[in-house]
Amino acid sequence: MSKVEEYIISIPDYPKPGIIFRDITSVLRDADGLRLAVDEMTQCIGDTQFDAIVGLESRGFLFGMPMAYNLHKAFIPVRKRGKLPRETAHISYDLEYGSAEIEVHKEDITPGMRVVVVDDLIATGGTLEAAIKLLEGLGAKVVKVVCLLELKGLHGRDRLAGYPTETVIAYE
Ligand code: PRP
Ligand code: ADE
Repeated sequence: MSKVEEYIISIPDYPKPGIIFRDITSVLRDADGLRLAVDEMTQCIGDTQFDAIVGLESRGFLFGMPMAYNLHKAFIPVRKRGKLPRETAHISYDLEYGSAEIEVHKEDITPGMRVVVVDDLIATGGTLEAAIKLLEGLGAKVVKVVCLLELKGLHGRDRLAGYPTETVIAYE
């Protein structure tokens, strides 16, 4: 397991009873933790050839943007619905606790574009599954998924079958 795990604080029963919340802000507040996390996630991309990193609002932005900057690649945000000013494509999905809708600027995704999708965490996998559908619907090819954390007990990976998925830390 990565040393980044030492920086993550786990909060029981947040935001609802029964959920163990894995807080990544305690990674970001430490200069070493931040660097380790971004560097290890960047390494997860390996030699995969791609055009842009797509980050998922909001915590996916915190990691996807510095990864794109480091690799001199474009960064495209997928946002919660209602925040993007140009024409968007959107999709709704269920979360570990609730539901949501996400969108992306249509013209930011061009057919055949190879994208790496970045988020902080895979729980049920619903967010990533929805993001992949959204991006593929616009003609992108999702060549890799990279997250800092994975909650194995929720089997989110099962929903990402066929998409190479790398995580730095896995919780049972
Ligand atoms: C959290 C997290 C992932 C998603 C994981 O985002 O950052 O995007 O849930 O859950 P899933 O695998 O069950 O879909 P959230 O929607 O809470 O938004 P936030 O990043 O803005 O806090
Ligand atoms: N997003 C969805 N489930 C989560 C969890 N258990 N901890 C942190 N973020 C989450």
